[in-house]
Amino acid sequence: MTDLPSREQFATIGAGYSPDVSCSMSLKADAYTDPAWYEVDRSEIIARNWQWVCHVEKLRAPGSYLAAEIAGRPIALVRDREGVLRAFYNVCKHRAHHLLSGEGTASRIMCPYHAWVYRLDGQLVRAPETENLSGFDASSICLDEVQVTEFSGFVFVNLDPDAVPLSQASENLETEIRHWAPDIEELTFGHRLSYDIKSNWKNVVDNFLECYHCPIAHKDFCNLVDMDTYEVTTHGIYSSHMAEAGQGANTAYDVSNATVRTHAVWWLWPTTCFMRYPGRSSMIVLNIIPVGADRTLETYDFSSRRPSRMKWRRMPSAISTRCCSAKTSTSSKACRRGWQRLRSLKGGS
Ligand code: FES
Ligand SMILES: [Fe+2]
Repeated sequence: MTDLPSREQFATIGAGYSPDVSCSMSLKADAYTDPAWYEVDRSEIIARNWQWVCHVEKLRAPGSYLAAEIAGRPIALVRDREGVLRAFYNVCKHRAHHLLSGEGTASRIMCPYHAWVYRLDGQLVRAPETENLSGFDASSICLDEVQVTEFSGFVFVNLDPDAVPLSQASENLETEIRHWAPDIEELTFGHRLSYDIKSNWKNVVDNFLECYHCPIAHKDFCNLVDMDTYEVTTHGIYSSHMAEAGQGANTAYDVSNATVRTHAVWWLWPTTCFMRYPGRSSMIVLNIIPVGADRTLETYDFSSRRPSRMKWRRMPSAISTRCCSAKTSTSSKACRRGWQRLRSLKGGS
């Protein structure tokens, strides 16, 4: 385990920052390239903030479960028999074997190694051949719980046991999402796109948050929405990115008969993006997953009311109007190369 950087190192890495956005600068290059700073990001940001896991539909039924990885830690999410949503470290209390894999339904959790059995609330109920062990008390053994919550139709976890509830930390975000996407709970998962980007996760977030590059990299997007109405507002730990639909016929896709007329997009600190595009009722969730100083995974989960009728194979080109395009990942990779160049020129400044 490494120590955190000193107060002076923190001051240096963010020396260009100003609360006045008109003159604020990026973090220094090391923050985007140095593995030591990546470890700081992972332990102090990713492991201490709310991380998106899935749409609530995956964990709605009692007995449903899902295995996930958050900040490199294995996590199991379970809806117990009483309907309580729970999350645990997905690690057996005996010899630390993984417990659940993938997703599905179960009436109990049985470790695949020595068959210890846990209830869905995490309580150990059976440990074969321990009857004669003196002092062994199964009732005193329970899986380690992790904070979990339902928020705006989605499931989030937070590895920090002292974290403020997401509904409180995010102020008005849920009200905004439910206003613009009132059917969010009824949407059904239809398709996932995944990208493996050779870039630091902050490059990916930086790129998502600015539409300065849109007229250059996303001409179709600028045709799909009325850019004169595009407005970004920052509130605490989230920002909203709103715009009205543009002309019905445009170079992206036809929105003449659209039921959704507003581009409503939100970024939630640090790595979750919700996107409601003009067109039919739907929601895209972009989950940005840091996996190394120079590597980031992205998943785009598409949900709609009638996913079976959606032409998912056509979605990448439609959605690349703004976000998950080859251009965006190329931009992020190009930024990474740039940060490395800056670092070599200026010794990390
Ligand atoms: S490691 Fe799970 S029962 Fe032994
Ligand atoms: Fe982009």
